[in-house]
Amino acid sequence: MQKIVITDSVKYVGADDKTIDLFESQYVVPNGVSYNSYVILDDKIAVMDSVDVRATEEWFANLDQVLDGKTPDYLVVNHLEPDHSGNIQNFMEKYPAAQVVLSAKAQSMLPQFFSLDMSDRCVAVKEGDELNLGSHTLTFVMAPMVHWPEVMVTYEKSEKILFSADGFGKFGALDTEEDWACEARRYYFNIVGKYGMQVQALLKKAAALDIEMICPLHGPVLKDNLSYYIDKYNTWSSYTPEDQGILIACASIHGNTKAAAEKLAEMLRAKGAPKVVVADLAREDMAEVIEDAFRYDRMVLAAATYDAGLFPCMESFLAHLKSKNYQKRTVGIIENGSWAPMAGKIMKETLAGMKEITVLEPVVTIKSAMNADTRTALEGLSEALLQ
Ligand code: FEO
Repeated sequence: MQKIVITDSVKYVGADDKTIDLFESQYVVPNGVSYNSYVILDDKIAVMDSVDVRATEEWFANLDQVLDGKTPDYLVVNHLEPDHSGNIQNFMEKYPAAQVVLSAKAQSMLPQFFSLDMSDRCVAVKEGDELNLGSHTLTFVMAPMVHWPEVMVTYEKSEKILFSADGFGKFGALDTEEDWACEARRYYFNIVGKYGMQVQALLKKAAALDIEMICPLHGPVLKDNLSYYIDKYNTWSSYTPEDQGILIACASIHGNTKAAAEKLAEMLRAKGAPKVVVADLAREDMAEVIEDAFRYDRMVLAAATYDAGLFPCMESFLAHLKSKNYQKRTVGIIENGSWAPMAGKIMKETLAGMKEITVLEPVVTIKSAMNADTRTALEGLSEALLQ
């Protein structure tokens, strides 16, 4: 078990998963992921969430060690997604006197996941309900759509701990030494990004609580400088650009569109652009590029025309951006097409379906490969991006 010190009476019993190939079957996690779970030891014992079935054995071993022969009274289910709920039935079978504490929505969804009838062992809680464990008192705060509709977070007032469900989580196992923001940002925008409004609503409720520690369901427990993390979440969930910079996302078939993207980057750097990132959508981790799209205030889309449409990796990138509610940004467009360029038109139409996007005109059109005219047009785009 990871030696994660929380407090004398709140213990970590989660597990690292460093063998998973893709989290949620779509996100590469080069440093794995943690499924966090906690135990509150008091007159009554509460276990805060379970873990993915990939970590069943380790979780029960951790629980046995921390419980030291005692029996838990409650399993608090803040989130029913299988990476956290995978062992609810196993837990309830192992501890037949335990009750499961969850939102009404979670209770209604519970039978969809498990064959065991737990209906007479459920304690459905609503906003502001409290559960007294002895010296600890849990207060339940509903957090619908952060990231599923049944989500709640739990505040423990005696030790001022917020059990924040997916909120404030990150990719990366707990034994990984890495910058929090990088993998927390990639996690946030790809997993919770669509639900900025709901995250804002939760942050408003959290602002009324005196929080000294945040215990999320993934990633490290946050104890120091909490305003740093809360400020990041406020920026991200309000779709405010975090940094000044330009992402150039390119979808190139034979390299000519990518060469234009790199030429534009060179021009921007020569003009003193604060930060320029070129991403090859055919090869780079899409989730990382999505993260950068939200991180910076400006973006350039550079794509080839393909089958009278858009080269597929750009089509996929734009679909991801739309589903994550990409908005409030300035975007330049470079299209390529050897006989009937269509990419620019399609990219503009897709951007028109997003909120508060300023498209820089004109679209730069390349017919096969850059020439003197397109280099001039790229100079124009670089100037427009820096105005
Ligand atoms: Fe970590 Fe939405 O589950």
